[in-house]
Amino acid sequence: MSLILGLETSCDETAASIVEDGRIVRSNVVSTQHDLHERFGGVVPEIASRAHLEKLLPVVQRALNDAGVSLQQLDAIAVGNRPGLVGSLVVGASAAKALSWSLGLPLIGVDHVLAHLYAPVLVGLGAKPQAAVVYPAIGLVVSGGHTSLYRVDGPGQVVLLGKTIDDAVGEAYDKAAVMLKAGYPGGPKVDAMAQLGDGAAYKLPRPLLGPQSLDFSFSGLKTALLYAVRGTPVGRGANSHFERDADDLTDQQRADLAAAFQLAVVDTIATKIKRAHKQLRADGCSIQSLIIGGGVSANSLLRNRVTALAEKLALQLHIPDMALCVDNAAMIAGLAHERFIKQDFDDLSLPVVATTSAHQG
Ligand code: KG4
Ligand code: ZN
Repeated sequence: MSLILGLETSCDETAASIVEDGRIVRSNVVSTQHDLHERFGGVVPEIASRAHLEKLLPVVQRALNDAGVSLQQLDAIAVGNRPGLVGSLVVGASAAKALSWSLGLPLIGVDHVLAHLYAPVLVGLGAKPQAAVVYPAIGLVVSGGHTSLYRVDGPGQVVLLGKTIDDAVGEAYDKAAVMLKAGYPGGPKVDAMAQLGDGAAYKLPRPLLGPQSLDFSFSGLKTALLYAVRGTPVGRGANSHFERDADDLTDQQRADLAAAFQLAVVDTIATKIKRAHKQLRADGCSIQSLIIGGGVSANSLLRNRVTALAEKLALQLHIPDMALCVDNAAMIAGLAHERFIKQDFDDLSLPVVATTSAHQG
């Protein structure tokens, strides 16, 4: 039996988890910093790294306590060391190195985005067992920082097929929430608001780029929503202003706009998955499964749509338990196990990396 302690500090969640044998989540502690960033309408990197510094050790202690595991019982230390906010990553990586060195345990640096695709494999603490993933698969990570489509050949083994050329989908949700005055964090608030609205009441664009493109672009959709909420800008230069504000709309109008935005996002994502499936099949690749991960995989409409789509395309769907969609350290410790069994370890020179080619093409 192996016990891996995972640490995650890439953005605004300080997290630690103990995972047994790469699959069984023994503890999963996530301390969010939402309250610290709320008044700024987004994550402030300097505030995030300082908060990680304060919270990380208590979070690790709780993860050990919850799992009933002592430091001496651990077999390895895993840390999300890429991609992310550099100052935040440094906090997790430094703590992981200190633990690895002082306990004489192997250190394993993990790619945060690829770890999102590992989350459906995890069981325990409410997460139900899913069928084993059959590869090759189509993998889609939809989070606050990334929107990337992959061919997945095994855990952590990916070929990038498409990515966002501007905003990540979660980022677009967060900005939509600001426009609609839906609250913070944006994604879940817009999701809840959309459930009270009619997506057909407003027509927003589906940004598909070229007919074959597997890339994503959400900035035009965001602007279309801005104009639908606030009207066309009046005047020029310093005197320009919008016709109205979200407060001038009725609750029903705001809910309809949220629903129209959500529908446009989910239609776009579904089209890209269908395109990827068609193109991979045309290349002779017999895709078996569809794996979705990242914070936006918690979205109610997306979950329904990909469930139906996977059935239509005869793919086995793997989507994380709700608690494992957003950033967590269980997915870090889980994916690290793949390298643990191969005894493929890092040393204390492990760097942190803000962006990596696996996600940027
Ligand atoms: O994976 P994650 O926790 O962090 C990153 O790696 O970026 O994703 C966070 C993102 C945020 O943008 C948040 O608004 C979005 O996931 N999100 C959602 C929902 N829950 C979280 N977006 C849409 N619908 C949701 N239910
Ligand atoms: Zn993430």
